[in-house]
Amino acid sequence: MATMNSSAAFASLAAPPHAAEPRRRDSWADRVQSASGVLWFLAAAAGQWLFVAYVAGHYGPRLLRGGLPALERSALPDGYVPGDALGNVAIAFHVVVAIVIVGGGPLQLIPAIRRYFPSFHRWLGRTYVTLAVVTSFAGLHLVWTRGVPGGLVGHVAISLDAVLIITFAAIAVRFAMARRIDLHRRWTMRLFMVVSAVWFFRIGLMFWFMTTGGIGIDPETFQGPFLSFMYFAQMALPLGVLEIHFRAQDASSAAPKLAASLVILASTAVTAMGVFAATIGMWLPRL
Ligand code: HEM
Repeated sequence: MATMNSSAAFASLAAPPHAAEPRRRDSWADRVQSASGVLWFLAAAAGQWLFVAYVAGHYGPRLLRGGLPALERSALPDGYVPGDALGNVAIAFHVVVAIVIVGGGPLQLIPAIRRYFPSFHRWLGRTYVTLAVVTSFAGLHLVWTRGVPGGLVGHVAISLDAVLIITFAAIAVRFAMARRIDLHRRWTMRLFMVVSAVWFFRIGLMFWFMTTGGIGIDPETFQGPFLSFMYFAQMALPLGVLEIHFRAQDASSAAPKLAASLVILASTAVTAMGVFAATIGMWLPRL
């Protein structure tokens, strides 16, 4: 990890490993920004793998022992609906695919894996993009047939996430085919953020419960102003911080890089607290 810099760490998702790595002399401000990016990555990777451990540990044994009907006794509000074969298969597919894409996403960001295991990196990148798009269509089917907690706002926001995933994946693939590798890398990073939106939602929610006790959330209806905010913030905030990071990388002076570093460090603190709260309050109790 010590050799990772943020331009490499943030820009490597699904990038063809044989592509020439841009080499430039980093300033001290670049290195500060890189270090803050690495810290965020460590908190996020740990949190995403904890989420994967929960999904595998909660849904895996149920599906293996009891098949689709066992999803009725899972955390999903409508995990199994008798007679709805398509929906039942879609939800099982959706949670199994979550293990692959949420588990694999952080691996794509590790430069050493790209460098020493290029075929693995390439195939994981292709698998990641394909599964993210397919599971978004499965999610769209589920959200408009079975629903999600949070009312209409929740339905619209998660559907927007599906649209962003499909759009960003298409743009990233297009730039890869056109050999515009720098642009391809940035779009794969944006893709990573919107694929991770459901994870951001969970850690954001649990961070809020831990720090405020749940102001703006009605526990009966699972609706309220904070939830409406969080449904869109799960995409907007990570994309916003990523844009700040990109702009600062492109800047020639130190000030924007230091400002971006502060934003990334604040995001790291919120991420770490949210991961802790989600692990203790949501994922461990369901295992
Ligand atoms: C591509 C990234 C996504 C991942 C990794 C993912 C992962 C998951 C997981 C793990 C669950 C089980 C809930 C839990 O135990 O916490 C779930 C449920 C669900 N997902 Fe996704 N999801 C993604 C995107 C989407 C999208 C884009 C939609 C809709 C357009 C969607 C719709 C649903 C629905 C309807 C449920 C069941 C109800 C609920 O728990 O909210 N998902 N998803």
